Amino acid sequence: MRLFAAVPIASPARDAIADLLSQLRQLDLPVRWVSDEVLHLTLKFFGEVAPERLDVIEEAIGFAVQGTGALPLQLTEVGAFPSPQRPRVLWIGLTAPPPLEALRDRLEQKCEAIGFPPEGTPFTPHITLGRVREGQRIPSEALEQLLGSVPPTSCVADQVVLYESLLTRAGPRYTARRVLTLSGAY
Ligand code: 2AM
Repeated sequence: MRLFAAVPIASPARDAIADLLSQLRQLDLPVRWVSDEVLHLTLKFFGEVAPERLDVIEEAIGFAVQGTGALPLQLTEVGAFPSPQRPRVLWIGLTAPPPLEALRDRLEQKCEAIGFPPEGTPFTPHITLGRVREGQRIPSEALEQLLGSVPPTSCVADQVVLYESLLTRAGPRYTARRVLTLSGAY
């Protein structure tokens, strides 16, 4: 099973992103926009994992979330990976409060200890909005209008969810396999 750990995005930020996505879908751009059913901020991508490892992964996430309480998040800007000049992935960024950075660091450490190497890239908290279709590009005028700051809508994140991602012809389908609460408790 293909697994990743993420923070689900709650309202009102969730509603703001869903509105933005419905506007973006109206534009005639060569982009596969994400479904707004499971908007999430990915913390760790595990890739293909044997189902027997679910429990040990859940345990590692459990250790990592200990002591972290609910996290206030705020939407910042629409950006692009790998760069605004060569966009392949369009995303909406989030402020990274220090406890979120610390949680991500602990998650990397706990996951490394059970055999999942760290990403090795800086943490850029984001929610993917869409992926540019293979071999196509977004016209620069459209890009200029897309990228940039957004109204600073916020939300409170109080869960880390271990999702299974099933790749289908209609796009990935995400199912929550384990849910951990950010309660602040040890
Ligand atoms: P993203 O939000 O940065 O696109 C499920 O595929 C989730 O895992 C996606 O939302 C994606 O995060 C994240 N992910 C991170 N690394 C990945 C990789 N190498 N392949 C696929 N998904 C990855």
